[in-house]
Amino acid sequence: MTRDDVFGLTGKAVLVVGGGSGIGHATALLLGRVGANVAVADIDADRAEQVSQQVAALGVSAVPITGDVTDPADAQAVVDAAHNRLGGLHALINIVGMASWSDLLSMDLAMWDADLRNNLTHHLLVGRAAARHMIADGVAGRIALVTSISGIFGAPNHAAYGAAKAGATALAKSMANEWAPHGIRVNSVAPDIIATPRVVAGFVERGVSDMNAIVQADGVPMGRWGTPDEIAGPLVFLVSDLAGFVTGQNLVVDGGTQSRFPHGGPKPFTETTE
Ligand SMILES: NC(=O)c1ccc[n+]([C@@H]2O[C@H](COP(=O)([O-])OP(=O)(O)OC[C@H]3O[C@@H](n4cnc5c(N)ncnc54)[C@H](O)[C@@H]3O)[C@@H](O)[C@H]2O)c1
Repeated sequence: MTRDDVFGLTGKAVLVVGGGSGIGHATALLLGRVGANVAVADIDADRAEQVSQQVAALGVSAVPITGDVTDPADAQAVVDAAHNRLGGLHALINIVGMASWSDLLSMDLAMWDADLRNNLTHHLLVGRAAARHMIADGVAGRIALVTSISGIFGAPNHAAYGAAKAGATALAKSMANEWAPHGIRVNSVAPDIIATPRVVAGFVERGVSDMNAIVQADGVPMGRWGTPDEIAGPLVFLVSDLAGFVTGQNLVVDGGTQSRFPHGGPKPFTETTE
């Protein structure tokens, strides 16, 4: 046995949508570290440019692309630009998503529609644009998208986001089924709370200073929030050769929360039988 490129990503073309910040930023950098050429797409041109420069500094090719993937024409243009500028498309990682907050009784339909647009519909637009290129090129492509544990559990005031993320989870499974005959694998990663700049800023705005205290009080086994790098790792694994037989999965990355009894579990016995 010799040392080799076990990820199989060296020189491969990977598009990261939403690559300008948080989980997408960490993912673009990790892809560069394992030798992939990366298209960094974001609605924010400055972010796409900055991250793509950081990736290029790792000695790989990196190109910034600007577009709003909730717009069908932009979604197509982003994928086409990545394919043209990287000379093909081996993998897509789509991270775009955001939540709004409202209770069901007062939520207006515009908010519901926005959550579906921001968390579900663009996965269809971007995913099938990418798959069409992969199929036309005869590339056994890989797709990974970011869902959320909000797509698994219900929560007050979070229904539209949760429904959209549940939809994205199901969509990834259907993509996996339909595109497996073309050799394309499709998976998703469902994070619990991750300390990205956007999320941290939201808590700071609400006056929360010790964010780990919240998850400790809630009984999250690892007792802390996850980091963007800890979601980038599973995403890169899923588009790598190491995951060659993995498709249609929603990988939960939650510091162990789901491994625990919902009601806290059995308590150690204090009585003695003697
Ligand atoms: N951070 C968390 O706690 C957490 C938990 C569970 C799931 N998630 C999911 O992870 C994903 C990333 O979260 P994050 O915290 O890293 O977010 P983020 O806001 O830090 O990064 C998202 C990036 O996507 C870009 N973007 C937004 N809308 C876009 C659009 N229409 N077209 C192109 N680019 C667009 C933004 O400019 C930003 O750079 C989201 O799907 C989110 O729902 C996050």
